[in-house]
Amino acid sequence: MIVRVPASSANLGPGFDSFGIAWQLYDEIGFQIAEETVISGCEERFCNEQNLAFAAYRRVLERCGVRDASGVAIRFGRTGIPVSRGLGSSAALIVAGVMAANEHYELGLSREELFLLATEVEGHPDNVAAALYGGLTVSAMDGGRALTRRFPVSDKLIFTALVPPFELSTALARSVLPSAVTREDAIFNVSRGALLLRALGDGDGELLAFAMDDRIHQPFRSRLIDGFRTARIEAQECGVRGMCISGAGSTLLCVSDRQDFADRMETSLEMALPGWELHVLTPDLSGAMIAAM
Ligand code: HSE
Repeated sequence: MIVRVPASSANLGPGFDSFGIAWQLYDEIGFQIAEETVISGCEERFCNEQNLAFAAYRRVLERCGVRDASGVAIRFGRTGIPVSRGLGSSAALIVAGVMAANEHYELGLSREELFLLATEVEGHPDNVAAALYGGLTVSAMDGGRALTRRFPVSDKLIFTALVPPFELSTALARSVLPSAVTREDAIFNVSRGALLLRALGDGDGELLAFAMDDRIHQPFRSRLIDGFRTARIEAQECGVRGMCISGAGSTLLCVSDRQDFADRMETSLEMALPGWELHVLTPDLSGAMIAAM
């Protein structure tokens, strides 16, 4: 069986640990019941039982009380999602793992149940919601429960990922965050988060420029991304409306309403930040799926 899962960007500025959006950029991962567990087709460092696709697969079997499960052969085919760059590569593996276990053992888990299990493995719901359901999602946790809803995204907006040539671990990017925020900063983020949903839905560039700002995580994380300031200056010159760190980074996500933004930005990036890659991103509205049995 092949599971196809989209890339995703979490946070989108003010929506820390709750907003996510899926992209038409995919990983395809094959799962086959086998005598022994074998993980192949990915970088050597991930070909072991710590691989998140396998960890998620096993978690579902444990949770559903499946005893005497066979091994599983997991083979990475097309891997379009850059690894450890803030584009949801971990969430994609987790979502693939929970979906494959559900199919292999005919567990009949609903998408909502798969979402809860995937969130448990990932630790927060933002990327897994987008990867599983597709589209722009807002998720919330309440103890052991997690819920998510989808919101519209205007096709007037141009989304561009600026991907640096270095990884940034989510653990490191979370470790630099303060554990408490002031009331002022909480109000700053809540108000912008709500307005951002409206800006994305309406394709309102002016509102977006205001609403994509954040005080909870980006001020602390931007210094971990070498080139952040340069990228922001270049993006502003090319007509960006909003720019944020994609997930925990290192990728930067630009949103513009200028049709020529990506072309202009590509030229600027080549000059100012050699080694960085630009991907034009289109929202994925389908979410993860079993692409072949
Ligand atoms: N919301 C998460 C973070 C996404 O920003 O740390 C990364 O997994």
